[in-house]
Amino acid sequence: MTPVVAVLGSLNMDFVVSVDTLPAPGQTVLGANFQMLPGGKGANQACACGRLGGGKVRARMAGRVGYDLFADHLKASLSAAGVDVAAVHATRSHPTGVALIWVDRQGQNSIVVASGANHVFAAADVNGLRATFSGASYALFQLETPLETVEAGLALARSEGARTILDPAPAGPLPQRLLQLVDILTPNESEACVLLGRPAARLTVEEARQAGIALRRQSGVGTVVMKLGEQGCIWLDASREVYAPGFSVKAVDTTAAGDTFNAGLAVALAEGMDVVHALRFANAAAALSVTQLGAQASIPPRADVERFLEQRG
Ligand code: RIB
Repeated sequence: MTPVVAVLGSLNMDFVVSVDTLPAPGQTVLGANFQMLPGGKGANQACACGRLGGGKVRARMAGRVGYDLFADHLKASLSAAGVDVAAVHATRSHPTGVALIWVDRQGQNSIVVASGANHVFAAADVNGLRATFSGASYALFQLETPLETVEAGLALARSEGARTILDPAPAGPLPQRLLQLVDILTPNESEACVLLGRPAARLTVEEARQAGIALRRQSGVGTVVMKLGEQGCIWLDASREVYAPGFSVKAVDTTAAGDTFNAGLAVALAEGMDVVHALRFANAAAALSVTQLGAQASIPPRADVERFLEQRG
């Protein structure tokens, strides 16, 4: 049977402007063209599961949108990637979420999200999502929907036998009762710092390893995967530490690189790849995503990732 990955999370229409440098508080900067592109951390992860699954893994998405044109566009983008959107429902009370994104010349970004309908995706709504998680081997979560909804989704996914992966983004304090429902926690450097109550900082691989060990101990989550961008990633569980180096590419836009990594990891593990190969696959997918502008627009199909891995040996 084809493995299934389920995703619960946000859908946003991204309003993207490329700038030379990100604006400082109080500063006006001139940007180039404006583009509207499909995004949202949940939808990006679902889209990436569809593309990276390449028919070998099926993806399902649960989320909330408004009754507007953005919603149609976002659902169409997921459907085109092969994602089952039966559990993406529209609400009359709020518009579809949007994100305002500036991307600088180095590919770094600043993002403000107006949550809209994502914000009214309630924990009680999760009761109707059994079919979404039924038969899923992995379930992906992020933090752009209410924490209670994430917690209810994690509990339902676990009860259906799925292994749960939480991307703690955007980062904030997480209750222990939520963390105890997580099998794999995947912070980037700054998210790990927030969860550990430290000032955000760029970390060396060794500092990230230490942070990952501390986070495992503090959170009680069995597996922590530290995402280190171009430095790669580190898998830490009770019996092993695996470091997978990253791939050097010319960065155009890092938006959704973390989402692509999480989806790549889930797809690879759902297919039965071992941890070393799964991390390499996820690193390659994320590296390719930063070479293009946009969130879902930048997520590569599986064939591109396989070709890239062959070329890089
Ligand atoms: O992770 C990238 C995403 O964050 C963007 O697509 C934007 O919508 C925000 O949710």
